[in-house]
Amino acid sequence: KKTVEDVELKGKKVLLRADLNVPMSDGEITNDNRIVQALPTIKYVLDQGGRVILFSHLGKVKTEEDKKDKTLQPVAERLGELLDKDVPFVPHTRGESLEQAVGKLEDGELLMFENTRFEDLDGKKESGNDAELGKYWASLGDIFVNDAFGTAHRSHASNVGIGSNIETVSGYLMQKEIDFIGGAIDSPERPFVAILGGAKVSDKIGVIKNVLDKADKVIIGGGMAYTFLKAQGKEIGNSLLEEDKVELAKSLLEEAGDKIVLPIDIVVAEKFDANARHRTVSVDEIPADMEGLDIGEETVINFKEVLQGARTVVWNGPMGVFEMENFAKGTIGVCRAIAELDGAKTIIGGGDSAAAAMDLGYADDFSHISTGGGASLEYLEGKELPGLTVIDDK
Ligand code: 3PG
Repeated sequence: KKTVEDVELKGKKVLLRADLNVPMSDGEITNDNRIVQALPTIKYVLDQGGRVILFSHLGKVKTEEDKKDKTLQPVAERLGELLDKDVPFVPHTRGESLEQAVGKLEDGELLMFENTRFEDLDGKKESGNDAELGKYWASLGDIFVNDAFGTAHRSHASNVGIGSNIETVSGYLMQKEIDFIGGAIDSPERPFVAILGGAKVSDKIGVIKNVLDKADKVIIGGGMAYTFLKAQGKEIGNSLLEEDKVELAKSLLEEAGDKIVLPIDIVVAEKFDANARHRTVSVDEIPADMEGLDIGEETVINFKEVLQGARTVVWNGPMGVFEMENFAKGTIGVCRAIAELDGAKTIIGGGDSAAAAMDLGYADDFSHISTGGGASLEYLEGKELPGLTVIDDK
């Protein structure tokens, strides 16, 4: 794909789409990682003398009322602190004030405009990729830098719409996500081990199938492991079960043979509660009146062994109910085991596992933590991402 380094930026009006959809609570940003990850591209374009028009969506905007909580103003302020520079904010998504502000930009200056999804109030123009809107935004700039990997699974006016109208290149973050996630899926250094967790088989079935094709080992933990244990004929008590996925799990286990690695012991609890009484049992002895909420210590040791020598590791999904302290050890153990691997490319496919690694202080020990949630999932499923396809080829 063509990148920001392949084009002349000096004096150009550069439309820069980032995914600055950060979690907020009461108007405060609770995690600024996506803003931090957007910095290299923003700085590069400014350093090259580009005139940056920066924009993003934030949350979903369904009613006029939503606008109050979904303004990008706090994001512009936080970006200003991180850049140590004033970031002028235009509280509109189109119109004269925006056009004038763009017209006044000098080389190496930037502005940010309002949440692209404010356009959804008028007939879903952004999310529906309204042709006129994409064309309008494209008309504000000379070149489009799409650095919004987190949004790459969406075909919206602010990525695909603009990209269909003018020259489109990727930014550093987009390129990094392509190199790591795309690299792992398309041409992994072997052995390639995938560790998949999360509650439901149905959410991850696309990923499971795709990585079973590509990886040397696929470790399965989390809530979805119980459907696989059931498929092996084990009694799983009150553990999470997707009855309608048991046959599928059975056929995957038959096809994959020992490529799939399942838990050997489980932390079972009397109920789904942070303070529930719990103990660790073998997967052959799950009591009928208890439910599995985490993988056990022996399992962590076993998973660790499977990971030894791996050259590529992709992790997606927690191993247990990690928001409850008593059932977080499996996720912590696996996170530490991956973080401590020597000489492996280690990738976290976004979402809960990315949050866990950051909370646990392991963020710096991974080669790459994806900024995408839905986007990394779809990428790992092997699906085409429209926000990526729209970037020009070299
Ligand atoms: C995300 O957080 O996954 C992206 O920013 C996309 O947001 P969306 O799911 O609201 O389209």
